[in-house]
Amino acid sequence: MKIEQKATNVFWQDGEISREDRYKILPQIGATIWFTGLSGSGKSTIAVALEKALHGFGVLSYRLDGDNIRLGINKNLGFSEQDRQENIRRVGEVSKLFGDGGIIAISSFISPYKDDRDNVRLLHDEAKLKFIEVFVDCPLATAEIRDPKGLYKLARAGEIKNFTGIDDPYEIPIKPEIHLHSDKMELEDEVSIILNYLREQKIIKI
Ligand code: ADX
Repeated sequence: MKIEQKATNVFWQDGEISREDRYKILPQIGATIWFTGLSGSGKSTIAVALEKALHGFGVLSYRLDGDNIRLGINKNLGFSEQDRQENIRRVGEVSKLFGDGGIIAISSFISPYKDDRDNVRLLHDEAKLKFIEVFVDCPLATAEIRDPKGLYKLARAGEIKNFTGIDDPYEIPIKPEIHLHSDKMELEDEVSIILNYLREQKIIKI
């Protein structure tokens, strides 16, 4: 869905420092690594480990995490389809800004709707920024056994409504750049796969 431009009489302001100028003084190029998957699938765990690995190589990244973002910029959004759409739209825009700035955005959101993820991809394509969709694939049964926040239990008891995987949908990615099976893979290997992809794409040089 195309979001309507509400404000009129606003004009893009160019600066004197271009994206290329910024990239020249950095050991990386800006990009977005977008983790999608069920709650409890391991998105945040992999994101944290990836950020740590990148930091160790002197590469600047910044994690945007569903729960954290919902405690700040998106505190006025809930979990209806519309609110999730707006959550992902805003975070997509923020990720794009990070990429333009030269920082690798590590965005982890359930992002259950394919259209919302595709819109973020389109946003990046239009801005000529790399968008790497990482599907953290994990059977619902496994996520539910892990239940790190005890939310599946509450959802099964009917105490949380519209919980992804229980009474709310999750649309699996059709062609993610990276497909991880977090129930079968080691964390270290998952991080290596992503690092190798970033090297292949020349996003990082280490
Ligand atoms: S998204 O669907 O809009 O992408 P997001 O990743 O920001 O979701 O937030 C998901 C987190 O919110 C979950 O990890 C969980 O901790 C919490 N949460 C609370 N209520 C729900 C719900 N109804 N469905 C999914 N996650 C929920």
